[in-house]
Amino acid sequence: MHSLPQLQNIPKYHNLFIQKIYHSKKNMVAYVLLNGKPRILKRFAPGYRTNFTTEATTLTTASSNLSIPTLFEKDEKNHVLTLGYISGENMCDLLNDPKVTLQEKNRLMHLLSTWFIEFHTFFKTEDYNLIHGDATLRNFLFSTRIWGLDFEETRKGQPLEDIATLCASLLTTNPFNATYKYDLCTTFIRSYLRTTSYTQSNIANEIAYAVIQKIPYRPTEETNLRNLAEHVKNHQFLSKKGPNF
Ligand SMILES: Nc1ncnc2c1ncn2[C@@H]1O[C@H](COP(=O)(O)OP(=O)(O)O)[C@@H](O)[C@H]1O
Ligand SMILES: [Mg+2]
Repeated sequence: MHSLPQLQNIPKYHNLFIQKIYHSKKNMVAYVLLNGKPRILKRFAPGYRTNFTTEATTLTTASSNLSIPTLFEKDEKNHVLTLGYISGENMCDLLNDPKVTLQEKNRLMHLLSTWFIEFHTFFKTEDYNLIHGDATLRNFLFSTRIWGLDFEETRKGQPLEDIATLCASLLTTNPFNATYKYDLCTTFIRSYLRTTSYTQSNIANEIAYAVIQKIPYRPTEETNLRNLAEHVKNHQFLSKKGPNF
């Protein structure tokens, strides 16, 4: 696989200055200055051509309606997407930061639920729903609002899958299974359900399932993840009184 630095040998990426390379398992993602403009370059590995097309299609369809990056170029030959750079803080860092107050974290969860309502509503058709498909906290940034990223796994599915994946991401990032996170999940779910008619009964099972799905990627934590999934199954996410939105 070509790395991003090697792109500089291709004429259109000649005037490229790499500012930061992000940790990515599959792709090469970098914040760059391209012809003097701040951009994100996302280069897809050869086995991930479908993801390349899926992400490009989602961005093209929705970037003028939703808070997601602008797609500046879809380079089919080199499998590179050139995206607008969003200067914001990663939601994973914010929600796990002990210096950020609980009140602020609750506010962020509420804003995040609004992002999902808008995304699911925008893509809903009579026949199916489209979901983000990889709704982990690292795929969301916050500046003055929430920005969603990483649409390579966007697909047909049940919107509640995204909601459950997001809760599982919160519960399984460091600090793992912290008590305060259950209330943040409740804020998020309650806020999401305020405008939708989806059934809420299975949310605990959905979150537990999303936790179990992490085991192949985190095999050394299998026992902790299984225990957490059991705990989650028995948690009443929607029984407590909480803020109404
Ligand atoms: N448009 C963007 N603006 C700012 N940062 C971005 C942008 N796109 C991606 N990033 C950063 O790069 C990281 C990896 O990008 P992402 O699209 O999630 O690819 P992957 O998860 O497949 O590696 C993100 O978590 C985010 O921190
Ligand atoms: Mg990502």
